[in-house]
Amino acid sequence: MDSLIIQGGNPLRGKIKISGAKNAALPLMACGLLLSKGSLELTSFPKLADTNSMATLLINLGLKIEIKNDNALIFGRPNNFNAPYDLVNKMRASILVLGPLLTRFGSARVSLPGGCSIGTRPVDLHIKAMKALGAKVKIIKGYVEAQAPKEGLKGCIINFPKVSVGATENTIMAASLAKGETIITNAAKEPEIINLANCLNEMGAKISGAGTNEIKITGVKVLLGTKCKVISDRIETGSYAIASLMTKGELELNNAEPLYLSELNETLLKSGAIIKTSQDKIFVSSKSILPVNVETGVYPGFPTDLQAQFMSLMCIANGKSEIKENIFENRFMHVPELIRMGAKINVNGGIAKIKGVKKLNGAPIMATDLRASISLVIAALSAKGESQISNVFHLDRGYEDIENKLSNCGAKIKRVFNK
Ligand code: UD1
Repeated sequence: MDSLIIQGGNPLRGKIKISGAKNAALPLMACGLLLSKGSLELTSFPKLADTNSMATLLINLGLKIEIKNDNALIFGRPNNFNAPYDLVNKMRASILVLGPLLTRFGSARVSLPGGCSIGTRPVDLHIKAMKALGAKVKIIKGYVEAQAPKEGLKGCIINFPKVSVGATENTIMAASLAKGETIITNAAKEPEIINLANCLNEMGAKISGAGTNEIKITGVKVLLGTKCKVISDRIETGSYAIASLMTKGELELNNAEPLYLSELNETLLKSGAIIKTSQDKIFVSSKSILPVNVETGVYPGFPTDLQAQFMSLMCIANGKSEIKENIFENRFMHVPELIRMGAKINVNGGIAKIKGVKKLNGAPIMATDLRASISLVIAALSAKGESQISNVFHLDRGYEDIENKLSNCGAKIKRVFNK
């Protein structure tokens, strides 16, 4: 498996163009299953292992996908409704085909994604929503087998007991072709949900309230092709902003959306960052790194997807800090690796206590999940000496063109292709 060799200690200076958001692109791709006619063109489309996995799954279901530069064209009609384990277990977001298949074709068989390194990650809320829309759902031999009534899914009120991004997205897509009105309460409010609702509305859907905790969907008969821009990746933006601070660099992040990152920006300002924003640009630099306590929360709270990166930063802060993870129960896989680099971290339950050290030292380290991987890259960029990060396939799931983006800003980073 590939690894990255990083010689640390070089401040990152220059410009990075932020890619389209992985977490927006995946549900938008699943909308291709809802098309009755025409094609769905996604612009600012990120070429990543995860979007590739979703493309493979959709092609397996019978859709056609053409990807050129940063455009993806999705068209055609599914000829089977089965999402098998070997495709779903590569990426949990594959569960997003459940709602579209069920509402458009009345039937879906989607493998349960299983656990993953950051926690058990059940899909009970997705299933609860499909049942509330009238589907009969059974779990048979590790598969969710769902059947809509003959007359199709029927609008209803769904009150999620817990905020879930994926379950909100699956429900919006399913309800968009259901009969009558669906109201989702305690809905997720992420910018990716707004991107999805806007795209579906362009396709002919009737969705209001996206971005608030109550979303109303009035079902329509057909959805047609459109062109939609994938919003910029706020997690990639936040990751590079933290990398700029940690290496004492100066980065200009283009194609970024400052509004999506207000909570992170506030936290980074407290930790000594100098941040300037203008339209779609964020400039990040700093003089010192101060300790700040953080806890992750649902949007617009501090994103769990930036927790690992922020922890790397706190490892070299001037004092003690605490990070509490509230979304996933096992999202501290980066901690033992950071400790190998000389970090002082103590984990107790969902809380990590960090005592800042002057510098981290390069070491052989292992990536364990997507966001843990980037936190190690950031740590290695600031560390003294060489680090070798193995298992970087995790990184390729969510960071487009990362070696080029970083080396253009002065990083010494190279990929070693292992057999
Ligand atoms: C999405 C993001 C992921 C991010 C996460 C939280 C995508 C493709 N992925 O994941 O990067 O870390 O939001 O911001 O957009 N839960 C249940 N039952 C369910 C579904 C979720 O208990 O049926 C729990 C989860 O275990 C977790 C919490 O709800 O504790 C939030 O998960 P959710 O928002 O659903 O995350 P994803 O949509 O999988």
